[in-house]
Amino acid sequence: MTTPRHFLTLLDLPPETLNRLILRAIELKQMVRDGVIYEPLKNRVLGMIFEKSSTRTRVSFEAGMAQFGGHAIFLSPRDTQLGRGEPIEDSARVLSRMVDAVMIRTYEHDKVEAFAAHSRVPVINALTDLYHPCQLLADMQTWYELRGPMAGKTVAWVGDGNNMCHSYINAARQFDFKLHIACPEGYDPLPDVMAAAGDRVALFRDPLAAVDDVDLVVTDVWASMGQEEEQTLRALAFADFQVTGAMMARAAPDALFMHCLPAHRGEEVSAEVLDGPQSVVWEEAENRLHAQKALLELLMGMAEWA
Ligand code: CP
Ligand code: NVA
Repeated sequence: MTTPRHFLTLLDLPPETLNRLILRAIELKQMVRDGVIYEPLKNRVLGMIFEKSSTRTRVSFEAGMAQFGGHAIFLSPRDTQLGRGEPIEDSARVLSRMVDAVMIRTYEHDKVEAFAAHSRVPVINALTDLYHPCQLLADMQTWYELRGPMAGKTVAWVGDGNNMCHSYINAARQFDFKLHIACPEGYDPLPDVMAAAGDRVALFRDPLAAVDDVDLVVTDVWASMGQEEEQTLRALAFADFQVTGAMMARAAPDALFMHCLPAHRGEEVSAEVLDGPQSVVWEEAENRLHAQKALLELLMGMAEWA
């Protein structure tokens, strides 16, 4: 049995493959627009384990599998043995004998690693407390479509040093851009994740200084899934970190704004920015579908380009 290829963080694929995957996602998007039927995953099944809520991730993976001629099974802890304590390793052994790939959204990153270590089929991280690599594929595709290669650009991350921020740090390494991270004290990304990116990443306390002349401004919710009870405390800590029109005015004149969504207008981003001309969040959300189709094609060994 060959070892399956997993996608647990952006570091699992070399930069050349990531760049090819983005180009392939753009091709697949055009094929959908043109009404081309392309079913490389006919009779293949994706298992989708969701221990946290989702709109975009669930629908994009499920729709992507349907478009590819395959099928997706939604599995929640509420109605599977996963929620009743069956070990993750046993679930991996069993599920991976029945399906052709597994996508997992959970809390602890260790859990997707443990699942992958015991899986016969590719495992995709669909968000953990530490990383959200699928979102970065969509973000990088969106950038490429609108502005070309990401290499040499500067991105400002404004807000929490969370799973999305960690994936932006990995993206800075893989796609070769500079990342300014503006976080209030106490909400920094993990030091080892930052250190591994070296001087590609710089930490700021002043969000206005962080966005000065950057090409892309990105933010995310102040309280991630699992941190709901910290919402009030976090709203105070992050009060000066809302992405506003005044903040966008400090960025480069043609700067774009991205947010993985769901967004809270009036908290991490003003309505004026989220719904304004520099915001590309709807295209970014759509690209989850196309980028993940390119990923499924690759991991399931159907990518002629790889
Ligand atoms: N951006 C994202 O992952 O959205 P969902 O939580 O709706 O899947
Ligand atoms: N940081 C957010 C991202 C949601 C897509 C969370 O983990 O809840």
